[in-house]
Amino acid sequence: MAEDLNIITGSKTEQYQALIPQIKGLIEGETDLVANFANAAAALKEQFGWLWVGFYIVRKPSGASAYDELIVGPFQGPVACTRIKKGKGVCGTSWAEARTIIVPDVEKFPGHIACSSLSRSEIVVPVIRNHEVVAVLDADSQELDQFDTTDQEYLEEIVNLIPF
Ligand code: SME
Repeated sequence: MAEDLNIITGSKTEQYQALIPQIKGLIEGETDLVANFANAAAALKEQFGWLWVGFYIVRKPSGASAYDELIVGPFQGPVACTRIKKGKGVCGTSWAEARTIIVPDVEKFPGHIACSSLSRSEIVVPVIRNHEVVAVLDADSQELDQFDTTDQEYLEEIVNLIPF
């Protein structure tokens, strides 16, 4: 894999289709989760220039018996909320419902957690292994209505590439 990402212009589909083989190259042969999440987040940020993109990982808080929190993992963008409870915000809802959530306007999502006042729209994609949500990929945009089912399709493909 070349050191520099090849950034392309074109339709959203063309951008994802050029990016996915490069993400495969970045994570090929690498099993370390932090490394793979970090490079996937960086590649998405470089290609699409979204405000924030990164991962929240399902964790058990110290002393707790259940996995009921997401903790921020590798990301690109402004500093973010560290912990999100299951069922809270877009991320916690995506985890609880094990499904991708597209939010065209964050002000219209009840319970949205505003990590940055600049974020206007959002997509959260669960990372599912053995029928359990183990992490979520979150992307935020400064533009309203940034994300659609094309993003959903390709981001779901990308999260499934990452060994967990
Ligand atoms: N908006 C998210 C919180 C995470 S930040 O956007 C990075 C939510 O409502 O879960």
